[in-house]
Amino acid sequence: MTDATDAADGTAADVNAADVNAADGTAADVNAADVNAARAAGAAASAVALREMRWWDIEPVLALERDLFPEDAWSPGMFWSELAHARGPRATRRYVVAETTESGSARIVGYAGLAAAGGLGDVQTIAAARDQWGTGLGARLLTDLLQHATAFECEEVLLEVRVDNLRAQRLYERFGFEPIGFRRGYYQPGNIDALVMRHHVKTHQGTETHG
Ligand SMILES: CC(C)(COP(=O)(O)OP(=O)(O)OC[C@H]1O[C@@H](n2cnc3c(N)ncnc32)[C@H](O)[C@@H]1OP(=O)(O)O)[C@@H](O)C(=O)NCCC(=O)NCCS
Repeated sequence: MTDATDAADGTAADVNAADVNAADGTAADVNAADVNAARAAGAAASAVALREMRWWDIEPVLALERDLFPEDAWSPGMFWSELAHARGPRATRRYVVAETTESGSARIVGYAGLAAAGGLGDVQTIAAARDQWGTGLGARLLTDLLQHATAFECEEVLLEVRVDNLRAQRLYERFGFEPIGFRRGYYQPGNIDALVMRHHVKTHQGTETHG
């Protein structure tokens, strides 16, 4: 997706510029620190890989889930139930995790899930670890779900988002999701309304379906 690519390009350009300064031999200590920071940022950004979520990811995903959705975190059983429908020829779910391999050890830093049935997709969940926010990881996860919505032959994809979650709404709008209504008191126990958003999946010809 272009946004993720742009972000990656930007990071690479920063690192290259810093390398040029260092190669000139003119870099003061403060610039050397910048070089290291840029390299570290570039390495961290490039090390995040997406892959299918498996049952052994449930525990680290739950740790993120409890941090990011403290009021209404999913139970282990909910993830087990979703993953039970994610494999085989009759799969109706796509669950993906984002993983870094910093300092040689793997860490789950994001996850997302899509349910598909009867031409309709539903974003079940999407989340990125706080230290990844603004890096384009949310966009990468959503891109993965929308690619699978196409593979599942969905014509449209729906989602619910808290009315006060402007960060997530911005992400969804960027991908062409449009508000279509509210679900009052959808999020309990806080009694927060959900904004329902819809995305029309493009066909292989690149045209909108059932607009
Ligand atoms: C929503 C979430 C997945 C986004 O992940 P992310 O990695 O930050 O996403 P991206 O970096 O791809 O994009 C974030 C967008 O929010 C914007 N943004 C950043 N900080 C923001 C803020 N404080 N308020 C509003 N928008 C903000 C970014 O600018 C970007 O939009 P832009 O590219 O158009 O400028 C992540 O914030 C998250 O996990 N939040 C907690 C869980 C959650 O709320 N999930 C959604 C449930 S519906």
